[in-house]
Amino acid sequence: MLTDPQRQAFADDGVLVVPGVYTDDECDALRRRAGELIEGFEPADVSVFSTTERIQNDDEYFLSSGDKIRFFFEDDAFDDDGHLTAPKGEAVNKIGHAMHDLDPVFSAFSRKPAVAEIASDVGFVDPKLLQSMYILKSPRIGGEVVWHTDHPYLWTEPCTVTGFWVALEDATVDNGCLWALPGLHHLPPKERFRRASDGCSAWNEVLDPTPFPVEEGVPLEAAKGTLVVLHGLLPHWSAPNRSERSRHAYALHVIDGTAHYPDDNWLQRAPDLPLRGFH
Ligand code: FE2
Repeated sequence: MLTDPQRQAFADDGVLVVPGVYTDDECDALRRRAGELIEGFEPADVSVFSTTERIQNDDEYFLSSGDKIRFFFEDDAFDDDGHLTAPKGEAVNKIGHAMHDLDPVFSAFSRKPAVAEIASDVGFVDPKLLQSMYILKSPRIGGEVVWHTDHPYLWTEPCTVTGFWVALEDATVDNGCLWALPGLHHLPPKERFRRASDGCSAWNEVLDPTPFPVEEGVPLEAAKGTLVVLHGLLPHWSAPNRSERSRHAYALHVIDGTAHYPDDNWLQRAPDLPLRGFH
């Protein structure tokens, strides 16, 4: 799938933007399916997913979602009385984290042969589809995702996690597209998110407190159907969506089965739902 210059660009930059990997119809079908899942969900048992406040650290709902389909709400989604401030379909921040194995529509989208080929092109030997996230970034209330890399959250030895991020709608600076620091994937990890031994909480181990040089960030605007491949140590960020347009995206995180996956990673699968590859 990828040309030699594209492979070289990914090696140099830690990020590669590939337009046109998905058709508009494929993107629309995933949006419809996500809408159905949200429609069928009753928000009686919910979690607010906030990377700003790290509320999820001690949140059992989050920590046990690695092999389920769960719904996480925006910080601003509830008023002081606990009532939704926006329609349910806009108040959801994301759906996670195993739709790719539990839902046929998500599975087919995740296992598109072109994506499997791109994974092979960037060096995967034994790809395992670890985590899926459907991110809504709704108009006006879609929240920020702070600067981070993915490796600390889905740690393997050596680092193999790679993000396959798909723009399901045009993502622009206005509606909160990804930003990145190309080339900084060569830096060692600055943190590691670890599940505590009680299994009910997690904590962030700081390995290097120096901040990323975020003033050098570049926007990764992406037309609908574009695939953005992100190295696990590539710093990335997205702004809140203050526009009137949504910015739906799908992110699939893949690790290599040849690497060690520690048992203090937050995401642990039940034995009856083992990780699968693209096939
Ligand atoms: Fe990320």
